[in-house]
This record gives sequence, C-alpha cells and structure tokens, in this order.
Amino acid sequence: MKAIKKVIVWAMLACMPVLANASEGGVQLDKAPLNLQDQASLQRGAKLFTSRCLACHSASAMRYNRLNDIGMSDDQITVELELPEDVKVGSTMQAAMDPNSAKMAYGVAPPDLSVIARSRSADWLYTYMRTFYADSSRPSGWNNIVFPSVGMPFVLADLQGEQEAEMHEGHVAKLKIKEAGSMSAEEYDHAIGDLTNYLVFMSEPAILIRHQIGWAVLAFLSVLLGLMYALKKEIWKDIH
Ligand code: HEC
Repeated sequence: MKAIKKVIVWAMLACMPVLANASEGGVQLDKAPLNLQDQASLQRGAKLFTSRCLACHSASAMRYNRLNDIGMSDDQITVELELPEDVKVGSTMQAAMDPNSAKMAYGVAPPDLSVIARSRSADWLYTYMRTFYADSSRPSGWNNIVFPSVGMPFVLADLQGEQEAEMHEGHVAKLKIKEAGSMSAEEYDHAIGDLTNYLVFMSEPAILIRHQIGWAVLAFLSVLLGLMYALKKEIWKDIH
C-alpha cells in the first residue's frame, strides 16, 4: 500500500510542471494542435520559420539538413527554403541580423529559438503568435497578451492582420481584427499550428525517433505476450 502511495505522489509531482504551464499569469492558453507525424505540417512550419523568424532569431543548435528527418531532401532544403549562396545544408541556422544591432533596434536581443519549446510550452508559443495587438504606447507599436510589453514587433501582421484590444478594467478583455491580413482566422491558426509543430520538433529532433522506438517496443511486447500465453497453455496442457 505504501509503495502505491509513493508512486501516486511521484506521478503527481511529475505532472506539476505541465499543470503550471496550462496558464501563465492568469492568461488562458490555447491548445496547440500538435502532430509530429504530420511531415507536411512540419515542412510548412519550417518554411514559415526560416522565411520569417531567422531575420532576427538564430537556431544555433539546428542544422538545415536535420530537416531530412521531416522528409525534405537536401535539394528541397536549398531551393524551397531559398538558402543564400554562402549557407550550406550542413550549416546551423543563423540570424540575418547580428544580436547587437537587434538589441539597438528592439531594446532586447532576440533569443536563440533552438529549444524555445522547452522553456516555453507549445501552448504558450501557439497563443503568443496569435495574440499580438496594436498598442500605440509601445515603442514597436505592438503588445502581446501572454508577453506583456514584449520587445518583438509583430512580424506576421501581413498574414493575420492587425488586432485591436478591447479593454476592461485595465485588462485586455478581447482581441478583434481591425484590419484584415492575407489569411482568414482559420488559415492563420493553421499556419501557426504548423509553426508551433515545427518549433517542438526543433527543440527535440530525437522526439520523432523516440515515437518510432515506442511503437516498436509495444509491438515486441505484444508478440512476447502471445508467446508466453502459448507457452503457458503448452505447460499446463497435461496437468489436471
Ligand atoms: C524583427 C525581429 C524579429 C523577428 C523577425 C522575429 N522576432 Fe521573435 N523576438 C524578437 C525580439 C527583439 C524578442 C525579445 C522580446 C523581449 O524579450 O521583450 C523576441 C522574442 C520572441 C519570443 C519570446 C522568447 C522568450 O521566451 O523570451 C519568441 C517565442 C519569438 N520571439 C518567436 C518568434 C518567431 C516564431 C518568429 C517568426 C515568426 C519571430 N520571433 C520573429 C524579434 C524578432
């Protein structure tokens, strides 16, 4: 009995970071639609990331050819991600802007995003990229619900459009689109779902392999179970 209690306590402790992540500063996070088996989604996420985020952020722990793991050939990586001449598929993902100039421009250096999905949860990232709103009191003209007073300008405004906050007692009560972007709300949520999917993969590329190993172990165990059952029948056959 004691042992069972211990297990339950440990299981609860193990779940705590997950529960704590569910809300941040009282803000409700939206559930990121993750599917690491969906290579097309991961590839769309990789394209959005390299075309829109690498301008300021690096992902120094990530090599372009790691994208082989999500089904992109070296040629596809070079052509579809439009790698500049001096960047090889074996290179790590480096920001176009150097950190010092970025710091001058935005007040904060854009952090490396290699393992961002580990320090921030997937749900946080998914919510963050969808809750920028226009705020004329901020130097960049933008604010964010899950990251108040963020230094990052909203670089996907052309896609989502410009959101406006409806305030209630000093808090943002609701966001609504003031000026439409090139995507519908649904299309934009999909695109950010893909981007978040990709950020989770990038934080832990081995996650894909681990999934496969998991299935192989389960398959092995079921075969073993079948064999044991047959063996038991064989042994007990003559004993009555
Ligand atoms: C124009 C430069 C710029 C671009 C482009 C940009 N960011 Fe940022 N980003 C920043 C800056 C500056 C910060 C630091 C904000 C702060 O700490 O206040 C930041 C912060 C972040 C953070 C929060 C990091 C943390 O935990 O503190 C995330 C996540 C992030 N960016 C994701 C992205 C993604 C995803 C993209 C591509 C869609 C992107 N950024 C494109 C400048 C940029």
